[in-house]
Amino acid sequence: MVMQLLFDLPSAAKNFYQSDNSGVAPNPLPGTNVPAHHRVGFMRHHAASKYLNGAHLQGMTERFVETFKMRIMSSEHISDDQWTELPDFQDWLQKELFRSAMRAMCGPHFERLSPTSADDFWEYMRFIPVYGKGLPRWTNRAAYRARDRVLGAIMRWHSHAVEHAGCEPRADDSIWDEYWGAKIMKERYAYATKTEHLSAEAKASEDLAMIFAMNANAVPATVWFVLELTRSPELLLRVRKEVSAARIKLPSGEPSPDPFNLDVHVLGSSALLQSCYAEILRLYMTAALMRSPERNDYILGRWRFPRGKLIVLSSRTAHHNTDLWNQGTPDDFHPIDKFWSDRFLGVPDDEVRVGPARVLQTDKEGPTVTKSPSDHDNTSTKTDPEIKFSMERVSAGGWVPYGGGAHICPGRFFAKNEMLATFALISTAFDIELLDPDMHIEPNMDYFPIGMLPPKPKLPFRIRRKTTA
Ligand code: HEM
Repeated sequence: MVMQLLFDLPSAAKNFYQSDNSGVAPNPLPGTNVPAHHRVGFMRHHAASKYLNGAHLQGMTERFVETFKMRIMSSEHISDDQWTELPDFQDWLQKELFRSAMRAMCGPHFERLSPTSADDFWEYMRFIPVYGKGLPRWTNRAAYRARDRVLGAIMRWHSHAVEHAGCEPRADDSIWDEYWGAKIMKERYAYATKTEHLSAEAKASEDLAMIFAMNANAVPATVWFVLELTRSPELLLRVRKEVSAARIKLPSGEPSPDPFNLDVHVLGSSALLQSCYAEILRLYMTAALMRSPERNDYILGRWRFPRGKLIVLSSRTAHHNTDLWNQGTPDDFHPIDKFWSDRFLGVPDDEVRVGPARVLQTDKEGPTVTKSPSDHDNTSTKTDPEIKFSMERVSAGGWVPYGGGAHICPGRFFAKNEMLATFALISTAFDIELLDPDMHIEPNMDYFPIGMLPPKPKLPFRIRRKTTA
């Protein structure tokens, strides 16, 4: 359904997908009888978990960082010593992020073959709420033409990659090549071809879903992250210290003289940056997580969910639950619907920064510091070892921007790297200010519950290259 509405999957492919009832695990569900090369659910799931991790993740992150750095450093729009005013921060940043992330995932030919692809993708994203309604094409021709352009770009890239590099996976395939980009993209195309049931249009829809997964949430999350961290001068001072501490060390132990030579892993282990990252996803992510009991009816307390029926869970309900979340104290109040950089920090002897969950009367021991999920680095901040990042009591169902269980988002590690590295590079290279620093920036609820809510208004801003980077 989602595949048809948002990504224009042809009906024949939809029927083919629906005939795969074998699940996503390596072993097919008992009682199913789908040929191995028709197990599209498993193959898609397997490729994502395998190729968005380890060396593949590192390669993609390095390529993203290298491209983004090169693009912002060589941007001709931004002058060296004076402020440049631009009409919309979101529009500026999202196109740069899309181009850099796409080079990391699909290689350089994607943009070369379709030079307007970044504009076309964000035009397509603008119409996501329209496609979601499933109205016929004539009700909004501009929306459907925007999607056709993106699908056309994907088909051009597929034909070019097949022509130059084939699509048969080989043992000596590297983790990235210039035609397919990251290995996951070639693998996905190869298994789609092996099914013999997916047309060129269906393969393009499949990859539109992947390109959407990569950009639709991570990019607006990064836009919010940079916005919130640069808006408050006090917070900016604190986070810049964390960025400086992430400079790669020379063999002598001295920090590298190149301020852009940053260790993304060190950035990701800063308690303050992790807290800001977790808070952005808490505040603005609105996923409708869908599940269906596969084998038997599912019993939860006095509720029964019949086998095969759809269950939908809203991440926003969990993320805005005032019974769960720490909102500070009456004297230092941090409402659930406002960004608070320190919500996920645990600070000894601090009454306000007690970790993300509300302290209950029954809590005898006071603030403790997390047993956080393995995705997070629960280490001390680089600048103050007493301050810890905490997921205490919110990790099991309270904080679910990436879903959970077998279907948990496999791109979450890349997303975190993208958010942190982007902020670190931008804050090292530029000063950025909104033209109206007190402007109220609402999230755009038209995107509820599709995913990350982007900022609603245009954000006129000024930017200046830092001379003392
Ligand atoms: C802040 C950024 C992101 C957020 C909040 C996010 C969130 C999600 C959510 C909620 C799901 C569904 C999980 C479930 O049903 O339990 C999902 C699935 C998925 N995401 Fe992400 N995502 C992000 C970034 C990314 C990136 C950067 C990539 C790729 C590089 C990616 C690739 C995927 C894929 C392939 C799936 C489908 C997994 C499956 O069904 O097996 N995501 N994501």
